[in-house]
Amino acid sequence: MSRENWSKDSWQSYPALQQAEWPDQQAYQKILQQITALPPLVFAGEIRKLKALLADAAQGKAFLLQGGDCAEEFSECTAPTIRETMKVILQMAVVLTYAGEKPVIKMGRIAGQYAKPRSKPTEIQNGIELPSFRGDMVNAADFSSKARTPDCQRLLTSYFHSAASLNILRAFTRGGYASLEKVHAWNKEFVKQSAEGKSYETLANDIEKALTFMKVIGFDPQSVPQLSEAYFYTSHEALLLGYEEALTRQDSLTGMWYDCSAHMVWIGDRTRQLNGAHIEYLRGVHNPIGMKIGPEHDIDEIKQIMEVLNPENEWGRMVIITRFGKDKVAQYLPELLKNFKQEGFNVLWSCDPMHGNTYTSESNYKTRNFKDIHSEIRSFFQIHHAEGTVPGGVHFELTGKDVTECVGGGQDIMDHHLENNYATSCDPRLNAQQSLDLAFLIAEMLKN
Ligand code: TRP
Ligand code: MN
Repeated sequence: MSRENWSKDSWQSYPALQQAEWPDQQAYQKILQQITALPPLVFAGEIRKLKALLADAAQGKAFLLQGGDCAEEFSECTAPTIRETMKVILQMAVVLTYAGEKPVIKMGRIAGQYAKPRSKPTEIQNGIELPSFRGDMVNAADFSSKARTPDCQRLLTSYFHSAASLNILRAFTRGGYASLEKVHAWNKEFVKQSAEGKSYETLANDIEKALTFMKVIGFDPQSVPQLSEAYFYTSHEALLLGYEEALTRQDSLTGMWYDCSAHMVWIGDRTRQLNGAHIEYLRGVHNPIGMKIGPEHDIDEIKQIMEVLNPENEWGRMVIITRFGKDKVAQYLPELLKNFKQEGFNVLWSCDPMHGNTYTSESNYKTRNFKDIHSEIRSFFQIHHAEGTVPGGVHFELTGKDVTECVGGGQDIMDHHLENNYATSCDPRLNAQQSLDLAFLIAEMLKN
């Protein structure tokens, strides 16, 4: 019953927010046809594997670590940038796996996170009004009419950049770059050089002992792929529905439809209207679906959306990503959890401690404070424990680069440091050290 009257283009008869206005409709249709003919980026079997892991995480038997850029950029689709992002996530994952004593699902906001929702369709500078920048999938950030005019060629460019990113991710994770020994060696480096790192020494030493033990009893990374390889999943916000539709494919094994643009896609706080096109599209694909929920939500609408997106109440299908902010989480999260318990919804709860804690610094940068991020995660864990629900994951905007976009952390980045290397094209990200700092702090919460 769930997917009745659904087809990959049925969303087109519903209102779709946050879409680009392509000036040349004919060219747009042609591009979509080209993408439709190209191979899928991921395979249905991988998506099912992920769903099973997320089902475990929802029930406390695994943990989801999702992170990456707010908005990816074509110009940053390079081996070093991708490698560094993956590296931090793997480093965080080792710490969390050991401390939490459960598998960690490693997932990037990567290989497709090229489209952004905007609060206003246009932007005015010096009396000139132009379309807002909607991410590299749509237009360019420069403030000129040429740059800001949506260019549908960018959809195809996004596809190829995603394919290139996925290719190198698969190569790295299979080719030895994700080996436990290597990742742990990087963590030791971090612990040694970081001021805060000192307090993490005990945990790092424990991991060292476990690895040494495995080695002396004969587990050789050469012969045990579990030691040398890791699986890395991709995700992005399913925003531009024409693009997602073009990558929607029917699995030849099961006959089921999947959005093969990524393993998991999520739906934003701004586009999840019950009768909107995004919900209509997502109800028909069998991927795991993330849903962001912020303070502005309507609980009755959320419940109805849940019925539409997961009528069979399948474990691993829904990842609810809450983003309330450190001050509001105590006001909104318990109520949400109570309602979900009452309805018996099977979901994985994940915490996005980034988006509810954004503010403008005195130096006029959009930033986030490490302390606030830490505080929201702490509350998230406490509230789940109090309600008897499972805090099953975290969602970060982060990069492997040494940027100065968020204040605080072990390096004690201050307001006046933000200008040193503020590189994001959208929201401020944690840098590599701040991300690792957080991993060690979350490790404490997972242990308790
Ligand atoms: N294969 C295991 C896993 O993915 C162990 C592992 C290998 C691992 N390399 C890793 C864990 C890097 C975390 C990070 O969980
Ligand atoms: Mn963001």
